[in-house]
Parts: sequence; C-alpha cells; structure tokens
Amino acid sequence: MEKMWSGRFSANASSLLDEFNASIMYDRELYIEDIEGSLAHAAMLAKQEIITTEELRDITNGLNQIIKEIESGKFEWNISDEDLHMAIEKRLTALIGDAGKKLHTGRSRNDQVAVDFRRWTLKKNLTIIKAIKKLMKEILVVANKHTDTLIPGMTHLQHAQPTNFGFHLGAYLAMFKRDIQRFESSHKRNNISPLGCAALAGTPHNLDRDMTAKLLGFDSVSINCLDTVSDRDFALEILFNISTMMMHISRLSEELVMWSSYEFGFVELSDEYSTGSSIMPQKKNPDVPELLRGKTGRVYGSLMGLLTVMKGLPLAYNKDTQEDKEGVFDAVKTTEISLEILKETIKTMEIKTHNMESACAVGHLAATDLADYLVEKCNIAFREAHFITGHAVARSEELKIDLSDIEFAELKKIDERINEDVMEFLVLRNSMNARTSAGGTATVRTIEQLKYFENYLKD
Ligand code: ARG
Repeated sequence: MEKMWSGRFSANASSLLDEFNASIMYDRELYIEDIEGSLAHAAMLAKQEIITTEELRDITNGLNQIIKEIESGKFEWNISDEDLHMAIEKRLTALIGDAGKKLHTGRSRNDQVAVDFRRWTLKKNLTIIKAIKKLMKEILVVANKHTDTLIPGMTHLQHAQPTNFGFHLGAYLAMFKRDIQRFESSHKRNNISPLGCAALAGTPHNLDRDMTAKLLGFDSVSINCLDTVSDRDFALEILFNISTMMMHISRLSEELVMWSSYEFGFVELSDEYSTGSSIMPQKKNPDVPELLRGKTGRVYGSLMGLLTVMKGLPLAYNKDTQEDKEGVFDAVKTTEISLEILKETIKTMEIKTHNMESACAVGHLAATDLADYLVEKCNIAFREAHFITGHAVARSEELKIDLSDIEFAELKKIDERINEDVMEFLVLRNSMNARTSAGGTATVRTIEQLKYFENYLKD
C-alpha cells in the first residue's frame, strides 16, 4: 500500500517493517485527542487565511464523520497506515478530497502526537485525582468509626506503642493527599500546548499558537519547539506519580494481607472480594491486596522502561519515543481498576475490633509510658528511666504477664521512687490518649486529623 511519505521511495515497505513500525494497534486510544487537535488546527488555519472557510467546513464535517465511524466500530484500522494520525488523515482525504490534504499545513506528526498524548495524560491526571478522593472518602468512613479502637502500633513489625485504628488509617489518608498534590502539580506544569512546533523548529506559516492552545484547553504555549517535540516529562511524571501512589496502595495491601491472617485476625475481607483455593476447601485468600501489591511492580516497570527509552535520545524526535505509550496506557488502566477495587475491598471488609484490642494486651506496649512516668513524676533522667523500665519488662516476662498487668508491689520492688499513681500510666487506653502532641494518636488528635481530611475532600 502506498504510504503518505512515499514520494522519495521507489520500493514498497516490507510487511515485516509495517508490523514492526506500527503503533496503530494501541495509539488509537488517542483518537479523540487527535481529532480535537486537528479541528483546532484547522479552525486556526482558516482564521489565519491559510485555508478557506469552505475547506474548514469540509475538514470539520469529515473529522466529525470519522469520530462517528470510530465510535460505531466502522473505522478501518490498518497496520499499513502506521499510526492513527496517518490513518485519520487518509480517511479524511478519502471523504472530502483535496481539502483533507491541507490539514497538515504547519504541523508535523511530532507536534501532533505530543498534543494528543499530552492531553490524554492531562485528562487522566484529573480522573485519577477523582478516584483517589473516592477511595479516601471510604477510608474516612472506616477511620471515623475507630478513633477509640486500640491497635498495636509497631516498628520493625514488633509491638511498640498503643495507637487507634482511625489514626492508623489516617496515615494512609496523608499519603493519598500527597499523591493528589503530585498529580495536581504535574497537571499544572504540563498544561502547555505543543501544537505549532511542527517537526522540531517551528514553521514559516503564520500560525496562531495561542488560539489552538486556548481551543484545546491548554494554559499557554510551549517556549522552545525543539524541547517540546522531544519532551516526554509529562508521561514520566504520571508514571512516577502512579508508582508512588501504588507504593502507598501496596503498603496498605501488605497490611491487609497480614491483618486478614489468623495470626493477626484484625480484618476479614468480604466474600465478594476474596477468593478460594482449588484444593484446600477451607481457604479464603486475600487475592485483591496481593494483586495490588503485585501490580505495583508492573507499574514501576513502565516507569523504568520509559526512563530508559528517553535517556540516550538526541534532540529532537526519535522513533524510540513511540515506545512511550503502552506503558503509560497500561499503568493508567491498572491505577483506575486498583483504586476502585481497593475502595470496595475497604468498604466491605469487617473490622475485628476485639482482636485488635486483645493484640494490645501483649508486647508490653505501655513500656514507654512507664519510662515517661519515671521522668515526669519521679524526676528521673530518661536514660535511667529507660533502664528501670527494662527491668520491669524483664520481671513481667518472668511472671509471664504483660507490663500493663503488673502489680504495683512488683514495680515498687524495682524502684522505690515509684508511687501508686503509676497504675494509671499502664492502662493502654490512657497510654494511647496521652499522646496528645500535634499529629499524635490520642483520640482527640485523631478526630482532628480526620476532620482535616474531611474538609480537604470537601473542596
Ligand atoms: N507514531 C508516532 C509516535 O507515536 C508518531 C510520530 C511519528 N513521527 C515521526 N517523525 N515518525 O511517536
């Protein structure tokens, strides 16, 4: 089949090349951005009197007809057309004749694909933000119910200090808020029009780049054409933003996997979002969080892939760049379904309050409180208080009890400066509620934090 660029060639491209070179199997995802870009470009060409109003009318009708053909599945996608840009332009010329051949005046596929892919990515920044907000709202519903539910706070996966479950979930709300901010900032930074940069150096045609930028919803036009057609930072940014967000999702998923084990028993995932085993009839497996953890690795792969594609490219466009799209499409699709299914999993899971609280009864979670007591009430230096508390912990281990259950007489034997009021410090709920410093776990502080996220999600 004859190519649009075949003027200087005397032999046809091999079918092997067609297959290797083509992006049409996947870049058709960009059809609406491509056609909107062409409609804006044509309107500008007419305003600048580079094409006539009749030609503009024909181009506009033709392109609208093509949208219908694509959306009804009638459009023919041929691998020999190489990419969607040429497939659409070819169809336009078939539909309207010579006017179709004028559309590409002052434009190259290099700025065209930059417009299409950039706009697609910008839109996805916004849909992902919406989806994160929905997830956060669902997390908030659960968190608000559990601001007084004790859960062992851990470091090194070892019992550390008592916290509450609402506070724990609040940590994820903070992460997801930062994720949103990253998508927002990428959106702002990259909302710049490449259209009119043409192949690499601009064009002698009298284009109005501001007009097309405005028509396409960009904030402004790009500064340097050579950079613009070479730049894929917007794609790298969405991949990085997705990767970071998926890392947060993966950490939450890891906790869900642990929490749903018998050993923890903090949550039970709903039947709707759990799976069984083909051989072990008793099994109920947390496939959803496991897959979320796994898909995070795949998304990182797309980020590393594109970083690697870009690292050695001389300016400006190189065909390597065509490898930018599949990873981004895949990562965005993965993100969309991940956010949705995590939201549903959280919404439908059962929180086993009793197990969370009884897990606090082991591991001497009140040890720091005893040390703090010695500092505050007995005027003992923290280092010494730490040492004395260590003895109390060792004694509790000997007695096979938790520090929070030790008798006053035992403590008095360890250090006679200790008084009866120490017992209040060893009550786990008091320990949690004592941490009233800004951002701390005390129920009052947790409620404040959750209110903060609630207000954030309002506007
Ligand atoms: N299909 C190409 C891509 O996705 C479009 C740009 C092609 N430009 C070129 N000069 N070959 O990157």
